[in-house]
Amino acid sequence: MRSTIWELGKHKTKVALLFVFSAVLTIAACTGSNTAPAEKTAPAKDSAVLFVPPDTSTIPHDMFGDMVRYGRDLVVNTAYYIGPNGTVGKYLGNKMNCTNCHLDAGTRPFGWNYFSAHARYPQYRGRENKILTLGQRINNCIERPHSGIPMPLDSKEIVAISCYIMWLGKNVPVGHHVKGDENLEVELPNRAADPDKGAVIFAENCASCHGADGQGQWKGDSSTYIYPPLWGPKAYQAGSSPYRVVKMARFIKANMPDKKAFWSKPFLTDEQALDVAAFINDDRIHFRPQKKDKSVVDYPNIKSKAIDYGIGPFIDTFSEMQHKFGPFKPIEEYRKSHGLPVLY
Ligand code: HEC
Ligand code: HEC
Repeated sequence: MRSTIWELGKHKTKVALLFVFSAVLTIAACTGSNTAPAEKTAPAKDSAVLFVPPDTSTIPHDMFGDMVRYGRDLVVNTAYYIGPNGTVGKYLGNKMNCTNCHLDAGTRPFGWNYFSAHARYPQYRGRENKILTLGQRINNCIERPHSGIPMPLDSKEIVAISCYIMWLGKNVPVGHHVKGDENLEVELPNRAADPDKGAVIFAENCASCHGADGQGQWKGDSSTYIYPPLWGPKAYQAGSSPYRVVKMARFIKANMPDKKAFWSKPFLTDEQALDVAAFINDDRIHFRPQKKDKSVVDYPNIKSKAIDYGIGPFIDTFSEMQHKFGPFKPIEEYRKSHGLPVLY
């Protein structure tokens, strides 16, 4: 059984360090105004101790614990419960599971985990230009990437997933980030990410599981995937976070190829991760589901748009192509010199 860092009394110094460090980050994390975006813009640095989520054997045996267990089950077996043929409701537009992206049920460092999600919501979200609750943020992922319809906020399922995320991050002080909840940094080269180079990397390192056609591999009964799809009609929707090249490259660097790459020991170089992310997310060669309701304007406050969100208008003078594939550094430099936010 693992214990949390907070239970390890002998590591008081490290814990204290984490507090001091987190306090600094909170200033960046709690940007509740509608001018300053509050997505994960303040990555924790190496000075803090890696966050260790509580062990599932410590989930309490009471009504709350039962909801935590159900919430975890929903994150792992999402399609079974709320997929297109879901047993409790038909909400998702595809048969992916939350854990396909939120690795190890949202507990893997640098694997799009849920470590500090409960501690940081309600939060300002640039895409909606609104303060969203955790339940609304869960529905965001159900609408995009899952191409689904939002669940009622008081549904047992939204409450259960919220309980699970709360239990997972119960030792994270309100408003704080912890080490490991961010994305691994990638060094941005002075060239655009190259989908052609990415195609070669994909064939060599990814196609064996995700398929040469990127459609993944079904489980025998087609209820969900052994290996999830990366593009095509059943893959994540355009406009969701994985569709952004830098965000995706950071995930790939830390986690893919599965079982070969680890955040502490990446497999691909930074440039390779960017190239393969560009290949996967290149709409000129790969189809994927698009936003259903075109009347919804994403990022109505363009100041809060991430640099690698490839759909204009932008607060700077660079093209959609450059925002999508880079080179990103000139955009960063322009923004810095004009006092504009540098966000990924
Ligand atoms: C195709 C990939 C993908 C799938 C599937 C997915 N998500 Fe996400 N989700 C993301 C990404 C990427 C982010 C942003 C992570 C980041 O910025 O580091 C995110 C963010 C979140 C957040 C906010 C986390 C935070 O700390 O701010 C929550 C909560 C969340 N997702 C819940 C869910 C739930 C519940 C499901 C299943 C119903 C789900 N997601 C399915 C990719 C996915
Ligand atoms: C050994 C098999 C394997 C290989 C090789 C592999 N992956 Fe994956 N990948 C997985 C599995 C399994 C998951 C889902 C994780 C889970 O559900 O626990 C996944 C998830 C993903 C996801 C998030 C989910 C989605 O479908 O959008 C992306 C993106 C991804 N892989 C990209 C890559 C890239 C890029 C490569 C090559 C550099 C790669 N993978 C190589 C097995 C693999």
